[in-house]
Amino acid sequence: MASAVRLVISGRSIELWPFEESFITDTYLSWLNDRALMRYSRQRHAHHTRDSALAYLRSFDGSSNRVWAVRRRVDRLHIGTMTAYVDPGDDVADIGILIGHPAARGKGLGQEAWGVAMDHLFRGEGIRKVTGGTSALNTAMVRIFLHWRMQLEGIRREQESIDGRPADALLFGMLKTEWEQCHPQPIAAFGERGR
Ligand SMILES: CC(C)(COP(=O)(O)OP(=O)(O)OC[C@H]1O[C@@H](n2cnc3c(N)ncnc32)[C@H](O)[C@@H]1OP(=O)(O)O)[C@@H](O)C(=O)NCCC(=O)NCCS
Repeated sequence: MASAVRLVISGRSIELWPFEESFITDTYLSWLNDRALMRYSRQRHAHHTRDSALAYLRSFDGSSNRVWAVRRRVDRLHIGTMTAYVDPGDDVADIGILIGHPAARGKGLGQEAWGVAMDHLFRGEGIRKVTGGTSALNTAMVRIFLHWRMQLEGIRREQESIDGRPADALLFGMLKTEWEQCHPQPIAAFGERGR
């Protein structure tokens, strides 16, 4: 990272940092290439290298899309990534998440990161609607959608082939008005952090 200060979105236990080249480590690449972890992700079909990860990062340059590193607040351990594909014409964003670090999985951090990103997009960036999608077999992700009271808006029947078996793809969405009704107080803070 070139300079010492970054604009960071914080929750209680996690922070979302602008994803930079220095986050592309062997550990990070090992998550992307972990077949079991990525079983339900579209990324499962690809092999990831430092070059492909860098090219992916560069694809965000000059766009309205966002890519964040998810870090554990207590020690700033890099535990995953989040993306937001923002359509500024319609003020909507489609978000995705990966919590890869073995020490961080299954501890509620993915769930928190998802809510923090939604809160920031709605309150900080004026996004009107946030969507997300996953395989119906991805129990952890479906529980995250339901925890944040996103609504099931569509089912793409047998859209995916997981371990050789057809599986439905579920599409969830939430409006800013619905979010603010559920969460009258912000759950994300936005501010500068020294690295
Ligand atoms: C899906 C993912 C983000 C979950 O992150 P996580 O931090 O490990 O999950 P959390 O600890 O926040 O748990 C979220 C919910 O899923 C449940 N859960 C966690 N791991 C689970 C598992 N392996 N099987 C079933 N349920 C699980 C939790 O109990 C929790 O539900 P609850 O609040 O109703 O108890 C993570 O597994 C991941 O990155 N997977 C690979 C990429 C991916 O599939 N992304 C989703 C597409 S956008």
